[in-house]
Amino acid sequence: MANAKTPAKTAKKKAAPSSGMGEGNTQLEKFFHDCLKDIYWAEKHLTKALPKMMKAATTDELKTAIETHIEQTVGQIGRLEQVFEIVGKKAQAKKCEAMEGLIKEGESIIEETEDGSMTRDVGIIMAAQKVEHYEIATYGGLVSLARTLGMDDAAELLEQTLEEEKQTDAGLTEIAENNINWEAEQEDETEEEE
Ligand SMILES: [Fe+2]
Ligand SMILES: [Fe+2]
Repeated sequence: MANAKTPAKTAKKKAAPSSGMGEGNTQLEKFFHDCLKDIYWAEKHLTKALPKMMKAATTDELKTAIETHIEQTVGQIGRLEQVFEIVGKKAQAKKCEAMEGLIKEGESIIEETEDGSMTRDVGIIMAAQKVEHYEIATYGGLVSLARTLGMDDAAELLEQTLEEEKQTDAGLTEIAENNINWEAEQEDETEEEE
């Protein structure tokens, strides 16, 4: 959150605002471009991983929340493509090891929990929130980097996505706290009685 609010210190900079990166890219511009490729890969990968999570979920509430976020993720990919354009580079994905690990963790949670159980949903929510937190950290950093580099249009696009990731995270917390955690706890008690 602090990242996104960092005031742009671009006033004294000679960098051309919002006109993309020049030919002789600075180290920071290259780093920004690299981070874009990384999150572009992550978002694309999520469009394949999230439908599996949605199918595996027990409650309609969680399924709907994930479905909404799949649609948002497709939009986020489009925004990243716009940012690549602003930067003057072709949209390109570079494997993000961190996201791959988080998605694998989600897959093993699904394997280890019973189909149709509330514990399955507790696990999916946790896995999904780890993904959202990674994205929040990434987009928070990208927004302030874009501002620093004088790319306000890019910063605005990235900020829209940052807000969606934050809302998704908050929505998942609400689902967990309203019902699912409690019901998963009840499910264990029923099993113990058997
Ligand atoms: Fe995303
Ligand atoms: Fe997300």
